[in-house]
Amino acid sequence: MTGEPLLRADNLAIRFGGVAAVRGVSVVLAEGDLRCIIGPNGAGKSTLFNMIAGTLKPDSGTIDFEGRPIVGLPVHDFARIGIARKFQVPSLFASLTVRENLDVAARRRESALDRDARIERMLAELELAGLEEATAGELAHGQKQWLEIGMALMGGPKLLLLDEPTAGMGSEETQKTARLLLGMAGTLTIVVIEHDMHFVRALACPTMVLHQGQVIAAGAFADIERDELVRDVYLGRR
Ligand SMILES: Nc1ncnc2c1ncn2[C@@H]1O[C@H](COP(=O)(O)OP(=O)(O)O)[C@@H](O)[C@H]1O
Ligand SMILES: [Mg+2]
Repeated sequence: MTGEPLLRADNLAIRFGGVAAVRGVSVVLAEGDLRCIIGPNGAGKSTLFNMIAGTLKPDSGTIDFEGRPIVGLPVHDFARIGIARKFQVPSLFASLTVRENLDVAARRRESALDRDARIERMLAELELAGLEEATAGELAHGQKQWLEIGMALMGGPKLLLLDEPTAGMGSEETQKTARLLLGMAGTLTIVVIEHDMHFVRALACPTMVLHQGQVIAAGAFADIERDELVRDVYLGRR
């Protein structure tokens, strides 16, 4: 692809009754980008994801993916075009094994041989090798989150959207998650919504700050961290 962004969202807005949840937000992602979205509760972060992932239709604004408009596409088409998302709430199959969960999440059109090879690579990439026959229900919290990321990846997405992937994790699990995502970025495009500043600092990627539905700052995380307005918002002074 020559110069064309993977995703271009322009001037997105959506209201819920009296609440302007997102107003005038634009995002441009190139292939291989790793981005963070931060902001206080209710800032509109998940709503922005819902619009990009097709579960909510913006009231106004446009979203192009690989140069084609995607607003209004049926939600089941999003996996096919290459947009995958991991929700805040776990959605794996607790009574199935790790391997079976990855298998269920795989595309049906590939051969069993290809699928098994991809599952092996995924187990290694997620550092879950040795746990393939454990049931998902018996995994530690962090391992469940990594498995879910693996399930999202089994569909072969171009864009992965992660909504608070480190919620409930201890600091070691959080650091491992950062390491995994840093390893995946570059080939895959990843956008992460996060609360944990240690995690965002470890990712050290371009970061966008949402507040009351609007972008109040964007840039390198090191600059964002020093931004007075951002500090005010996080400290609750505004
Ligand atoms: N489906 C919905 N119906 C009504 N209000 C919603 C809905 N989803 C989100 N909101 C409201 O939109 C605002 C942004 O929410 P959300 O995107 O979940 O914030 P964040 O993920 O940043 O915490 C909040 O005021 C929230 O209450
Ligand atoms: Mg949210």
